[in-house]
Amino acid sequence: MSELPDILGSTWPVIQGPIGSMNSPEMVAAVSEAGGFGMLALGFIRDIDEARSLVNTVRGLTDKPFGANVVIMNPLHREILEVLAGAGVTTVTTSVGQPGDIYPLIHELGMRGLHVVLSLAHAVKAETSGADGVVVAGCEAGGLRSRKPETSTMILVPLVCDHVSIPVVAAGGIADSRGYRAALALGAQGVQVGTRFLVSKESIVHEAWKQTVVDCGDGGTDLLPVGNMMTRAVVTPGIRKLMEDPSVNLEEELLAVDRTKAWETGDLENALAGAGQVSALIRDVKSVREIIEEMVS
Ligand SMILES: Cc1cc2nc3c(=O)[nH]c(=O)nc-3n(C[C@H](O)[C@H](O)[C@H](O)COP(=O)(O)O)c2cc1C
Repeated sequence: MSELPDILGSTWPVIQGPIGSMNSPEMVAAVSEAGGFGMLALGFIRDIDEARSLVNTVRGLTDKPFGANVVIMNPLHREILEVLAGAGVTTVTTSVGQPGDIYPLIHELGMRGLHVVLSLAHAVKAETSGADGVVVAGCEAGGLRSRKPETSTMILVPLVCDHVSIPVVAAGGIADSRGYRAALALGAQGVQVGTRFLVSKESIVHEAWKQTVVDCGDGGTDLLPVGNMMTRAVVTPGIRKLMEDPSVNLEEELLAVDRTKAWETGDLENALAGAGQVSALIRDVKSVREIIEEMVS
C-alpha cells in the first residue's frame, strides 16, 4: 500500500476538488504550480478530443503532477484514462459507479486512483474493489449529494479511518489552515478542497458567484433537489422565496432555470450557485497560491 504523498507526488496533500467545467486548465495548473494537486473535472465529458485538448493544455502549462476526476458511469471512461495515461498522469479520482468496474483498468495503465465516497459502506467497498485511497466527503461539502441522511466530515473521516487501511482524504468544510490541521488530526492524510478554490482569483466562475459565496453566512446553504440527487448551493433570496411557497414545486422550478446562462451572466437569483457550508468562513477572493500557503502554514 502507498501513502498519499507518494500517490499524489505534489508538495502538499491538498487536492483541488473537481467543480465541473469550472476547473479550467489554467486553474488546474495554478494549483499544481502552487504545490497542491490540480485536478481536471473530466467526469461528464462526452467528447474524447475535448478531454485530450484539456489534458494537453494543462501539460503545456505545468510539469508538476496533476490529475483528473473520472466518472465510472461515463461510457468514455476507458478512453479518458488512456488519454490521461498517455499524457503522463499517474493519479486520478473516480466517482459515481462501481469501483470494481474501473480499478483493474486503472492499475493496468500504471495509474493509481482515489475513489470519492459519501459513506462508510462505500469506503469499505472501495477498498475491497482495489482503490488505492478514498476521498471521504462529509455532508457539508459542495457538490452532488445523495437523498439519504448523511454524516458530517468531523464524524465520517475518523469513522472511515477506523475501517480501512488505505489512505483517506478529507473533503467538505475545509477552507483554511484550521480545517486542514483538523482533517489531519482526524486521521486523513490530505484534503480535497472545492468551495475555497471556486472563490479564487484563478477560478473562472462569474464574479457574482464568488461574491454570493463571500456574502453567504452561517446556515446560508442548503441541499437542493436536482434530478434524483441533491446538490448543496447558496440559498439566495429568490430561492428562499421559492422554498417558502407551498404552491411551488422547487425541483421543477430549479430545473426550469437555464443554469448555463445564469452562470455565464451572473444572474443567480433563482439559479444554483453551488457551494459548501464552508462558504460562511470565506470572506475574500484570494489566489490559489495564497490559499494553499495559508492552509499548510
Ligand atoms: C460548484 C461545485 C461543483 C462540484 N462539482 C463536482 C463534480 O463535478 N464532481 C465531483 O466529484 N465533485 C464535485 N464537487 C465536489 C468537490 O469536488 C469537493 O469534493 C467538495 O467541494 C469539497 O467540499 P467543500 O466545498 O466544502 O470544499 C463540486 C463542488 C462544488 C462546490
